[in-house]
Amino acid sequence: MCGIIGVVQRRGEVASFLHQALKRLEYRGYDSVGVTTISNGQLHMKKDKGRIEEVHKKLNLDEIPGCIGIGHTRWATHGIPSMYNAHPHFDCKNEIAVVHNGVIDNFLELRKELKSKGHEFSSDTDTEVIPHMIEDYVSEGLTLDNAVTEVTRRIEGTYAIVAMTSRDDGKIVCTRDGNPLVIGRREGATYVSSDIPAFLPMTNDMILLLDGEVATLTAGGAEIRKLSDGSEVERETIKVSWTADQAQKGGFPHFMLKEIHEQPEAVRNTLRIRPEVIQEAAKFIHEARNVYFLAMGTSGHAAMAGRHMFASLAGVLPIFELASDFPDTVYNSLSKDDLVIAITQSGETTDTIMAVKHAKSFGVKVVAITNVIGSSITRMADHSIFTQAGPEIGVAATKTFMVQLTALAQLALALGELTGFVDNEMLEKKRQSLEKLPEIVSEVISRNEEKARRLAGLLYDKPSLLFLGRGVSQATAEEGALKLKEISYNHAEAYSAGQSKHGPIALVHDEYPVIFVVPRDETRWRIVGNIMEMKARGASIISVIAKDDEELKGFSNHWFTIPEGIEPEFSTIPYVIPLQLFSYYMARRKGFDPDKPRNLAKSVTVL
Ligand code: G6P
Repeated sequence: MCGIIGVVQRRGEVASFLHQALKRLEYRGYDSVGVTTISNGQLHMKKDKGRIEEVHKKLNLDEIPGCIGIGHTRWATHGIPSMYNAHPHFDCKNEIAVVHNGVIDNFLELRKELKSKGHEFSSDTDTEVIPHMIEDYVSEGLTLDNAVTEVTRRIEGTYAIVAMTSRDDGKIVCTRDGNPLVIGRREGATYVSSDIPAFLPMTNDMILLLDGEVATLTAGGAEIRKLSDGSEVERETIKVSWTADQAQKGGFPHFMLKEIHEQPEAVRNTLRIRPEVIQEAAKFIHEARNVYFLAMGTSGHAAMAGRHMFASLAGVLPIFELASDFPDTVYNSLSKDDLVIAITQSGETTDTIMAVKHAKSFGVKVVAITNVIGSSITRMADHSIFTQAGPEIGVAATKTFMVQLTALAQLALALGELTGFVDNEMLEKKRQSLEKLPEIVSEVISRNEEKARRLAGLLYDKPSLLFLGRGVSQATAEEGALKLKEISYNHAEAYSAGQSKHGPIALVHDEYPVIFVVPRDETRWRIVGNIMEMKARGASIISVIAKDDEELKGFSNHWFTIPEGIEPEFSTIPYVIPLQLFSYYMARRKGFDPDKPRNLAKSVTVL
């Protein structure tokens, strides 16, 4: 949802750093790109529509002078992708440059006002009001940071803003409300970015910038103040454990494939989350009246699977609501005895943040499950569980889904201990099965990758596919269908297998592909019935089944197999992997870039 980068350094050109940093941020949006630097008291700018490498070929982003600069990769909201709408945006005199992520709700009103004062606009964006407003404040004698502060008093909406002016080539000013910005620091250089990987090759030292704060960055450091009263904020530097290598493709053709292969490690690291952190979250759940899971996209599928884990192991059935719909579903029925568990890998999804704000206004407690330290959600939560996937760059979530499920599994076990719903012996058996996950996940990948590639070769031109599962496997089916839609653009729909005969079966005809997720659990015998129904209508059956499930192999045209050893509640973890691989190879077979699906962004920071 737009990627922002800014750097001010004591010496040396910033052009190629900006270019490379934007590439690391490309997963946030890639319909246009732009950079601006300052040299000899002048702004220099290169921007255009298109992906970064396309624009680089045309404009050579590595050649633009100056040791201070800002850059932006765009996911369009206001105004079509075009050169004019690409960021940075400028004031009338071309002295002030601004990049922005978010939405300015009252931009039309502000634009009218500015036009009546004689300002000329060159884009259709909401962003462009910002440099023009700064221009007015600066001409009244305000410094850049004070001008930016004044702008935040007039604009409504959500934003992360980074600004600089050719009148001062030693300073970048940035502020945020509702959209992410983090500051990076090293000797002689200061960075600001929407996300940590952008500056990881330069530094692991990070300083958080919170909503309602403005920071002035120089090559010597960052000065943070509160927007409300201008008071100075002391903020410690945090060392990030992620490595720059994790944010590179490491020999894989795409981030998505690399991240699928990183899943055993991600699960292993997440199993090492300190037990007290999990137990504390379990206590919140145990003491709550109603428990709500709030999430979007893939995180929502983790929530669906989590419900089954909680119900089966702890006798607690949370209510899952899409965060986007939560306020309109619960109305005023919340109480301070309720608990929200917000699941969001980025911690920045606006739908989820708004839902949490709604819950908090009723005094509801909040537990966050997220992959990003210092993200917005963690600052709203009473307690956070940090999953350990490392940076995920591919837009389609894979390893972050895996670690969300792993964290939820641990939470279900800790909660089970508190509620005593199943006996200790049983809990121990489940716990041991979790320990085997990294190895099993690894085996599932090696066992199924080639099959996924071959199957993609057979099915790539199918206009529509159906994914069916029962119980916890419905979540697996939903995630499989979502992955396929997201990156290969085949129409795919997931359903509860039980519901399939109440409608979706009408779609089925000769060789219509139906993918069944069938672990060895108590739903298996019923799903066999659903397979037979589909077969009788000519469907081509693709199944994801246990390694030695010979009976189901007999009913299937194609199958993926999963080694035994994982308890049924946790089956989504290994069973979803062949479906991730299948989507990846479908996208490749069709010539699409799996890392950059059209119209999608990794972190959606608009409502
Ligand atoms: C976007 C991404 C999805 C992701 C969803 C929720 O739609 O494309 O991959 O699952 O946002 O993101 P979150 O960061 O809240 O998990």
